Parts: sequence; structure tokens; C-alpha cells
Amino acid sequence: MSGEMKVKHLRVMKRANYLYSLLIATSFLSLPLPTQNRVMAQQAMTSDHLDLMPVPASLQIQTGRLPFTRSFNVAIKNYTDDRLRAGIARMLTRIAGRTVLTLSPELATDESAAILVVQCERAGEIIPSLGENESYSLEINDKQARLVAPTVVGALRGLETFLQLLQGDRDGYYLPAIKIQDQPRFPWRGLLIDVARHYEPIEVLKRNLDAMAAVKLNVFHWHLTEDQGFRVESKKFPRLHTLGSDGLFYTQDQVREIIAYARDRGIRVMPEFDIPGHSTSWLVAYPEFGSAPGPYKIERGAGIFEPALDPTREQTYKFLDTFLGEMAGLFPDAYMHIGGDENEGKQWDRNPQIQAFMKEKGIKDNHALQAYFNQRILKILQKHHKKMIGWDEILHPDLPQDAVIQSWRGPASLAEAAKKGYNGILSAGYYIDLVLPASQHYVADPIPADASLTPEEAKRILGGEATMWGEWVSPETIDSRIWPRTAAIAERLWSPRNVTDIEDMYRRLSVISRQLEELGLTHEKNYGMLLRRLTASENTGPLRTLASIVEPVKQYRRYQMRPQTMLSPLTGLVDAARPDSETARQFNSNVDAFLADAPRFTLFRSDLEHTLDEWQAASRRLGPMIDQSPALQEARPLANNLSAIAEAGLEALSYLSSGSAPAAEWSQKQLARLDEAAKPKAALEFVVITSVRRLVIAASELPQLRSMTPAEWNKRVTTMASPPAPAKP
Ligand code: ACM
Repeated sequence: MSGEMKVKHLRVMKRANYLYSLLIATSFLSLPLPTQNRVMAQQAMTSDHLDLMPVPASLQIQTGRLPFTRSFNVAIKNYTDDRLRAGIARMLTRIAGRTVLTLSPELATDESAAILVVQCERAGEIIPSLGENESYSLEINDKQARLVAPTVVGALRGLETFLQLLQGDRDGYYLPAIKIQDQPRFPWRGLLIDVARHYEPIEVLKRNLDAMAAVKLNVFHWHLTEDQGFRVESKKFPRLHTLGSDGLFYTQDQVREIIAYARDRGIRVMPEFDIPGHSTSWLVAYPEFGSAPGPYKIERGAGIFEPALDPTREQTYKFLDTFLGEMAGLFPDAYMHIGGDENEGKQWDRNPQIQAFMKEKGIKDNHALQAYFNQRILKILQKHHKKMIGWDEILHPDLPQDAVIQSWRGPASLAEAAKKGYNGILSAGYYIDLVLPASQHYVADPIPADASLTPEEAKRILGGEATMWGEWVSPETIDSRIWPRTAAIAERLWSPRNVTDIEDMYRRLSVISRQLEELGLTHEKNYGMLLRRLTASENTGPLRTLASIVEPVKQYRRYQMRPQTMLSPLTGLVDAARPDSETARQFNSNVDAFLADAPRFTLFRSDLEHTLDEWQAASRRLGPMIDQSPALQEARPLANNLSAIAEAGLEALSYLSSGSAPAAEWSQKQLARLDEAAKPKAALEFVVITSVRRLVIAASELPQLRSMTPAEWNKRVTTMASPPAPAKP
């Protein structure tokens, strides 16, 4: 590893440090048991095994059902426009596709003869806006469904709920009789897509906008510029996109197309132009606006880089006034994001002219210099009728109060901003590029229960955004890094705060995940495609088995373990493996139930045996498969580990079933092999090891079962099998 690369690794880790401490903090938020029971009781009442995601604000199940047949039709009452008609047409297409029923595209002319009546009062904002009324009510009885909304956007939200209510049984499709009254908890519910580290064609953005609408997200945060790419056409400064993008940029017509597509779905489009740091790609064309002479090249690595705009020269502001003015005309949203993150000011420190400027103006450090820059930018944005938003780092005593803070450092930082009078949104806890399970994002609340905010301060917390940073995603893999986990974040931002049952969230998440495929999302289908490509074969079975119980390493360890650049293919096993393995979750839950059944050990025993047999068979067949496919070489140690895991599990099961404890050497040997298997390889890690350790320890602890209650014994086994607390990165 070169010195330079080592430094970059450290820098990549820096982002992780803040986020890691946050995640540790949020993991304590999991509710104590009595509270959890109360919440579950309430949810049993409200969601009652419906597959709604996000869970509506209020819901009452009635008796009866509305049959859904091919005579289904829709009438519109009161207000209508193209956006509403298009929303209904999309709903009809999706529901027809799901039910395989040919439905008439014609709207019913007679309200009393319609199965669904959509009653809407007005268009809503011409440009989707913060705080727009998104509420709706939906009442379904055994004859008719009635969706009532003040605005078309509310009606669109309600149509998504309608689609999620569809169920089927031997009598056909139907919707349950129900009364729903719904509105969001937070007005700002976003998804950031970084199209700069890796370019994403507009088809990718469109299908993700469809998915956002399906889970009621309403802000597409378009992270358009970075060290690694400048992705928007500028007619004023065409060298920006021609020299800074490898030819991979959005034309202004394409930008308008995306904005219209998002508007059709009630989604705001907020652009981000990250300055003064993260700006290498701008300086390829215009080194004169940088703080060092250049020349500059498009950055190919990952990390934090030194180039930063020169905040001391009038030329810089003149340029930004023209460029941001052009973008203000292109993007109709009220907000413009100026980034502001991770500028370490190294170029500023080394530039004598900048140092002289600071001295002359009494600017005491780089943070203050950036605040000076931000104030200048704020004036430019105000002139172009935009409100400013930026990352935590823009917070400074000199920052005017109408700026909005997007917090990636944690809820404490957001609360601090709210106390100082700033509006803010939370992204810490919603960093989906950390490849963490949905359950961890789900517990991160923009206003944690222990936040000591007055009601007025709490109101300044507008919501949150999931962030899809683009270092390790391609058009083929990005959907699987966003979905389905982001639906859990969407629920956190829409649903009442007491909707917190993780098991029920996962149950609904897997249903919603399949529905997202109706919209063309590739998070499921590309899994098989990537595995087929890796094996050069249709028969991916054994590799699929392996891939189903490993996950990409968490935080930002991937880069350290398997260094790549922005030019590297994202087609390895790590790119196929999912961030939140459903198979592993099922296995782990079966082991829980099996051990809780001590001393009988019958519950789920055959399921576990079957699964472990399958792992063993797969590990045998993987060797020859890897021999055939050089691209899979890096999976060989994982295949060997799989064999060890399966053997340990099967032997432990057999001891437990027979009630005879193994010799001490057996346990030591198995645990040592599991420790070896627990070490990540190819930037992948098994997520079933702790459960198999529990089985091994349970077998060796069988004699203790005679002298304690099964519950005490189980607790002892679980404690002994727990991995040591992870070291802080
Ligand atoms: C960030 O993650 N640097 C906003």
C-alpha cells in the first residue's frame, strides 16, 4: 500500500468514525421490553398483518372485504388534472400486472358505479414544496373504496396505500374493509443519490423515483458534483461538464425530464453542488478558482481530497454567481444544497495569499474562512431566490438562521442546530452506504426520545434523508444498496414515532421489496444476474447458497479490504451479496427458537438440519465451480469456511439431540474454526457465525442444563457465544 493510499484510507475512515459512534448510541434506543409489548399491542391493533409500509397515522380495520375483479374502475370527483389521471393510470397498470387481470383504462363517469372514487379538492403546489399537504383518507367497505385528499399529492400518496392493501386468497383478490386517515410525521423525507462517484443513467433515477413514491418519500437530493465527477450540463461554463465528467453528465433537457417525472409523483428535486471542498472535478476546467495552482485531474480514488475553491478571490464569487444563477433557473425547488462537508483546508493553509487575506480580515481559522465563504454564497443564493442548505460543517455563529443544516454527524448535532434556531434534517443513522441492516436505520429517530428539545425546537427538525453515496454502486447494483432497506427509513420519517416493532417491519419489508420489482427496480433480479455472470452458468445454486449468508463488510471497511477505484468494475461477489441477509435472519431466528426449546431441542430442528445440510452440499460443489471461474477465486476461502460452519452446526445439532455432551477438544476445535470463518474475506463476512457458535457452546454446556433452568442455561450460552464488542474503527 502506498503512503498516499494509506492516507486516503484513513480519510475514508473519518466519515465512518462519526457514524460509528452514532450507531453505537442509537443501538441503546432499542426499547425496554414493557414498552415494546405496549407498542406491539398497539400495532397488532393498527396494522394487523396488513402489508402497509409506511404504516399510516391512523387505521381501523372494519369487517368485510371489497372484491377486486376485472370490472374494477375508478371515478374522479371534484378536482382533476393530468397529474392525477397519470397517477391513476400508473396504479391501474401496476395492479393489473400484479393480478393478471385485464382492466379498463377508462375512468367511470358515474361515481356510484365506480369501485374506487378519488375525491380531490385542488392541484396542490405547482412545484412540489416543503410542507405541502400530503394527507389523505381512505375508506373501503364491501361495495366501494373512497380516497379523499385536499391535494393531488395527497391523492397520489393514498393510491400507493390502496395498492399495498390488495390481498388475495382462494376467492380471488380483494381489499379489506378499512378506515385510514394518514399524513406524514415529517415534511422532509428524502433520498440522496450521489451520481458523481458513479454516474447513474436517467432510467436508474426514474425507477428510483418510482420506488420513492411507492414508500411516500418526497425529496430527491441529487448530489451532482464531486471530486470524481461534474454531472450537470452548464451552458454558461460548458468546460465544467465536458472536462469534468468523462462525458457522463445530464443535459439540461434530461434534468428537466427528471424534475417533471419527480413532480408527477409529488417529489421535490433538490440539487447539491458541493463547495468549497469535494470540488476537484470543477477545477479540471477552471484551475484558477482553486486554492493551489493545479493542474487538476478527475479524482479516481475514494476519500477526502485537498482541492478547494479559493474563497478569497472575487473572481470565484463572480463565477459561482453565474453558475448557481444558471442552476437556480434550471432547478425550481426552493432549496439549493451547497455541500460544505469535509473541507480540511489543507490547500488554504499552504496558500500565502489566502493566509494574508485571513490576517487582514481577522479570520481566525479555516472554519471561519468557510463561514465567510458561506455568507457570500448565501447572498448569491438569496439573489437567485433560493434557500441554502448544507452539511453540519456550515454551522457557525455567523451563519444566518434561514440556512438549513443536514446532519451527518448525529442527532446531537442536529439538536444543537435546532436549539440555535436552525431548521435541520437528519442523515446520520440513514447512511445506507454503510451496508448495515435495516433494523439499525429503523431505530434512528430524527427526534430521539431523550432529545431535550422544546416543542418549538422540535418543529425545526424537518425530517431526514437516506444517503446513497456512490463510491461502490453501479447502475447494476445501486438498487440493491438502496432497496428494500430505504423503505424502513421512509417509514421512520412518515409513520408515528411509536411504530417500532422490528420483526413486523421486516415482515412488511419483504412484501414491499417484491412490489418494488413491479416498478422495474433491479434489487432482486440483478442478484441472480450477477451470480450467473460470476459462474458463467445458469446453475448458480451453490454460489447462491454461499452468497445468501454473507454480507459486505460494514462501515467503510470494504475499501481497506479490497481497494478499488472509481474505474473498477462493481461485479464481484461483494457486489452481488446483499446488505441485510433475509436467509441469515431466518436461520438465526430458528436457532433462537431451537435453543429456547431446551432440553427437548425439537423446535425447528429439522429446518436447521436441512439448512446446514444444504450449506455442506454447497461447500462441496463450490470448489469445482470456482475452478471454472477465475473471477470467483476470491470466494475460495469463504467456500472452505462454509464447510467448517456447516460441519460445526450439524455436529452440534446431533449432540444436542442425543443429549450427550461432546469432549472438550471438540468444542475448542469447532470454536477455533468458527473464529477463522468469522474473519472477513473478499470484503464479505458470514452473518450466521454467532448462531452456530451458540449451537457449539450449547452442546458443550449440556451438562449444566441439569443444574439450572432452561432459561438460565440459555442466557449463559448466549453470553458465552457473544462476539467481543467490536473495536472502534
Ligand atoms: C458526508 O458524508 N461527508 C456528508
